[in-house]
Amino acid sequence: MIPIKSYGIRRRHLASQMQKGVAIIPTSPERVRSRDAYYPYRFDSYFYYLTGFREPEAVLVMVVGTDEGETKDILFCQDKDVEREIWSGFCCGPENAREVFGFDKTYSISRLDEMLPKLLSDQPKVYFALGQDARWDMRLTGWINRVREQVRSGVSAPAEICDSRLLLDEMRLFKSAEELQVMRRAAEISTGAHRRVMRTTRPGMKEYEVEAELLHEFRNHGAEAPAYTPIVAGGANACVLHYVGNNMELKSGDLLLVDAGCELHGYAADITRTFPVNGKFSSVQKDVYQLALSAQAAAISAVQPGNRWDEPHIAALQVLVQGFVDLGLCRGSVDSVIQSGDYKRFYMHQTGHWLGLDVHDVGEYKHDGTWRLLCPGMTFTVEPGCYIRPADNVPRHFWNIGVRIEDDVVVTNAGCEVLTAAVPKTVAEIEELMR
Ligand code: GLY
Ligand code: MN
Ligand code: MN
Repeated sequence: MIPIKSYGIRRRHLASQMQKGVAIIPTSPERVRSRDAYYPYRFDSYFYYLTGFREPEAVLVMVVGTDEGETKDILFCQDKDVEREIWSGFCCGPENAREVFGFDKTYSISRLDEMLPKLLSDQPKVYFALGQDARWDMRLTGWINRVREQVRSGVSAPAEICDSRLLLDEMRLFKSAEELQVMRRAAEISTGAHRRVMRTTRPGMKEYEVEAELLHEFRNHGAEAPAYTPIVAGGANACVLHYVGNNMELKSGDLLLVDAGCELHGYAADITRTFPVNGKFSSVQKDVYQLALSAQAAAISAVQPGNRWDEPHIAALQVLVQGFVDLGLCRGSVDSVIQSGDYKRFYMHQTGHWLGLDVHDVGEYKHDGTWRLLCPGMTFTVEPGCYIRPADNVPRHFWNIGVRIEDDVVVTNAGCEVLTAAVPKTVAEIEELMR
């Protein structure tokens, strides 16, 4: 768990980068799944990053550069309501929230429309994630207009809306030691789930039975949820990058691609392994698998502080394209195949993405048009793959082989730490575990 005081430290850090103004960070709304049944609630990652507060119907307002030169952190949240709590359980309420979470002030969420025009009066800037939710955009416009109505009384309205995400994305990109502890545990639970499915998968099972094993392992170890819908893709389904049908039978002789990770205390793990349904790689499957594995090893070697973000991708691509040429899938030199983009028939995605509170986490990949440099604390996936769909110019024995190998890494001073190394990935290790 992240200690409560760390959220206050993050707010101070944000405030230190803001100019005089007001930051408004709402959490996510609850969403209806069907009629009066809701999706399991998931807070907004920015809001949670700054508060640690998990209830819906809450907004963080930070007033920076008050007349006293200070910052005021204000939380608007649901009132305590004994009647409602009989049905929906504990609710913190503004009083408790102030004490437990360390805000300067807390108010009932029902006072938001009354308070915000006051808080925005005479403030030059608003920091807000414009465009994230149209309803909040409208509400902000309404509050600013309420301030504008008072100009004749000498009150000024904010003249500038700054994107709060620019500052927060950069903060979230660099994981603290506490965050990394949580991410290590999320990775550990998720590696356990992948090991479990390698041990239990048999021909004749359905993809959803494998999914059930994953979910069992996540929840059984206290993870809140899968960080994203697990991809359990047997045979040709592995060539569908975002396959989530998970309803087909697993056939002996096919590969199974499993892309799944849990969410723990808000933080995601994201792991993919590909293994033979019957426990033994065929010769052609082994060729393709080894290629993806070598590409991943090359990419992970390129995860070094000071390297550019795209260096792991380039390293993976060099290996993959050489392999495509050697296997007769692409023709020409490695450089010419990269130049023409012909390899995209078999490898059409990037080699990784930032990982954190969101599975595709926030953070810029480029600064001023150039790929940024890797620094300690940056956490991301390394996930090369090879997806061979049926086509006239592809030898038939390759058809429908889809492989991806995905691990989570954090850049360290010396190189990188692989958070998800505990799941077997060499052919020998996989076949051994499946035996
Ligand atoms: N699981 C989503 C991804 O690998 O990006
Ligand atoms: Mn994944
Ligand atoms: Mn991923």
